[in-house]
Amino acid sequence: MIVLDKVSKIYPISKENQVAAVQDINLEIPMGEFLVITGRSGSGKTTLLNLAAGLTRPTSGRVLFEGVDWWSLPDREQSLTRNQKIGFVFQFPSLLPALTVLENIALPTIINHSQDFQEIYPRAVKLVETLGLSDKRSSYPRQLSAGQQQRVVIARALLNQPAVLLADEPTSNLDEQTELEIMELFAEIHQRTGITIVLVTHSAQLVRFGTQSVQMAVGQVVTKQT
Ligand SMILES: Nc1ncnc2c1ncn2[C@@H]1O[C@H](COP(=O)(O)OP(=O)(O)OP(=O)(O)O)[C@@H](O)[C@H]1O
Ligand SMILES: [Mg+2]
Repeated sequence: MIVLDKVSKIYPISKENQVAAVQDINLEIPMGEFLVITGRSGSGKTTLLNLAAGLTRPTSGRVLFEGVDWWSLPDREQSLTRNQKIGFVFQFPSLLPALTVLENIALPTIINHSQDFQEIYPRAVKLVETLGLSDKRSSYPRQLSAGQQQRVVIARALLNQPAVLLADEPTSNLDEQTELEIMELFAEIHQRTGITIVLVTHSAQLVRFGTQSVQMAVGQVVTKQT
């Protein structure tokens, strides 16, 4: 599904100095896996996700998405592929405060795929139900707990039925119990839909929710378990 082939990302920080956020990484993310990437702060996890999504251009190496090098595609094709194939979940919920739960979930699909709300509505309602938010669908983000907000973000990422879900520390803002609930939700979604999930966390304890895991240490993948 996604292949990183000897990928490095080097950031210049001054005339003399540079930082290798990711160095010579080879990683294959097969279709249908739930890959958990762990590593300390600064080890390059976010950079790796951005590379995988074609949001960051590698300094060297190639990143293939479904067999195609992201950087061989024109801009328009790149964003089209991203919009159709990838769902993103970030650490902080990032919902629009003036929109209801249902509107927040539907908005990206309306914008990116020029569908109207009526078309999306039944799917959004069903998804909200699946994620246990039925009674909250007309609520505003400020009326929800952090865990519920994160569920809305997950629903928003899933509405367009992407092939891959990329999640960057989606639970680090939550208490332990809620963290486990959200991780179970990811595992459940994975089992039910067969979607490919790449989830980044600094908590090694969350590895068990995935089907595969890799650990990053300062820009490099150091261990791999299946
Ligand atoms: N745009 C940038 N310019 C310069 N350096 C950067 C940039 N983005 C990341 N870095 C550096 O690359 C390294 C890896 O950063 P990255 O954000 O990928 O780490 P991370 O594992 O996601 O950390 P965290 O767990 O804190 O989110 C860090 O040393 C960071 O300072
Ligand atoms: Mg990060």
